[in-house]
Amino acid sequence: MPRMTRLDDITVCPMTEADLDEVLAIESVSYPKPWAREHFLDELGSPYAFPLVALNGDGRVAGYICPVLLLDEGEIRNVAVDPGMRGSGVGRLLVEAVLEECRSRGAAYVGLEVRVSNQAARALYRKLGFVETGVRPKYYENGEDAVLMECPLDRSGES
Ligand SMILES: CC(C)(COP(=O)(O)OP(=O)(O)OC[C@H]1O[C@@H](n2cnc3c(N)ncnc32)[C@H](O)[C@@H]1OP(=O)(O)O)[C@@H](O)C(=O)NCCC(=O)NCCS
Repeated sequence: MPRMTRLDDITVCPMTEADLDEVLAIESVSYPKPWAREHFLDELGSPYAFPLVALNGDGRVAGYICPVLLLDEGEIRNVAVDPGMRGSGVGRLLVEAVLEECRSRGAAYVGLEVRVSNQAARALYRKLGFVETGVRPKYYENGEDAVLMECPLDRSGES
């Protein structure tokens, strides 16, 4: 299980089914094609996934992230922060928690796809060591390209 992480009064911990109402509320205002409850339930039941939530001081969900780890390849499938909490470091904390967990489990890298127009997410990933490795043309429902990004991990235990 991922180690608990704190940033001021934010705690990162494993997602549970009890978090899903709040997760779905954030999901629905964050994406044009939001994941359904069943999709999150699949992640919660998968042996390869380790979805995490960032909880604020009163236990409410400030954000979440859905990573998987298959052999030595990590992947971030979804990450979103409550619009009222954006810009305060929650997204960074969630991605860092995934990088740390994947590194500690021996992953070589963590990859993801991001809309070419999503400057906030691309800046966040770049800041944390992701590099752009390719483009999937017209990947999204509106014809937008996906940018492929990867963060190589140092498996010697040092970041
Ligand atoms: C992308 C997202 C998760 C970022 O979460 P966040 O908590 O607001 O991000 P943080 O506050 O941790 O920001 C960390 C870094 O990301 C970058 N960043 C975040 N928001 C940004 C913005 N609006 N514009 C430019 N850079 C931004 C900055 O480099 C920032 O570092 P800084 O604060 O030192 O400048 C959030 O905007 C979100 O939920 N968006 C909707 C869902 C989404 O697009 N998910 C990603 C799909 S691939």
